This record gives sequence, structure tokens and C-alpha cells, in this order.
Amino acid sequence: MQKFEWLEKYSVGVKQIDEHHKKIIAVTNDLAEAIRAGVGGEAIDNVVQELLNYVKFHFAYEQEYFDKLEYPDSQKHKLEHLEFTKKVISIYQNYAKGQGLLASDLLRFICDWLQSHFMGTDQEFGRRLQVYLSEEEFQVEIKR
Ligand SMILES: [Fe+2]
Ligand SMILES: [Fe+2]
Repeated sequence: MQKFEWLEKYSVGVKQIDEHHKKIIAVTNDLAEAIRAGVGGEAIDNVVQELLNYVKFHFAYEQEYFDKLEYPDSQKHKLEHLEFTKKVISIYQNYAKGQGLLASDLLRFICDWLQSHFMGTDQEFGRRLQVYLSEEEFQVEIKR
């Protein structure tokens, strides 16, 4: 599989979110590398765990803004995050039990989901967050 490169079209227009997404891509590439190198289960376990920890942090970061933004798609967006996490865990457990699924299936699912989430659901959220953050900055300037 080709290296998963961050592309400008993934940008949601908010630096912090883009930085998180780049880090998620970097960990996904570490997973691809571990699979390619054929390293043992424990090394793959560690990378999957690192990915899950980081996406948990990132999803919580996005979700913290949902109320502040009065974001109408918050339930749908939260559900997408939850389903991604559940699916990664379930594919990984099946793979670890040797039930016919390959680490490459897991990797394919992760890459496809991330690309479509970055270019879909996170875009609208990013637009709203951009407006919110610029208004917040404006308030600070008025107070000065
Ligand atoms: Fe995101
Ligand atoms: Fe998201």
C-alpha cells in the first residue's frame, strides 16, 4: 500500500485540527510500516493502541467544541467517531484471534475512513470552528 500522505484538500482550515489529523496519518503510516516489516503481534498491538489513544484525544478535542459552536450535526459526528473506534477495535480483535482478517484489512478501513471523515464531516465542523475562533479573537481585541 502506498504511503498515506496528508494533502491540502484534507485541510479543515483550522491549524490545530490539521496538526492532529497529520499526527493521526503519521501513526497510521507507522502501522503500515509495522505490517510491511512483518513485525510480531506485540509491535502491531502497540501501534494500534497508540492510534486508538491519539484518536480518542482528538475526537474529544473536536467534541468539546460542539456545544460552544451550537453545531447541529453533533450527534451524527459523535456517532461517526464512536463507530470508527468500535470498528477499529473489532477488526483488530478479529485479526488478533486469527479470524481471517488481515492487518491490511484494518489498515485499509482506517485509511478510507480517515480520508472520507477529513474531507466530509470534519469540513463543515472546521468551517464553523473557524468562524467561532475568529469571533473569539475579535472579542479579545475589543476587551483590550
Ligand atoms: Fe478530526
Ligand atoms: Fe471528526
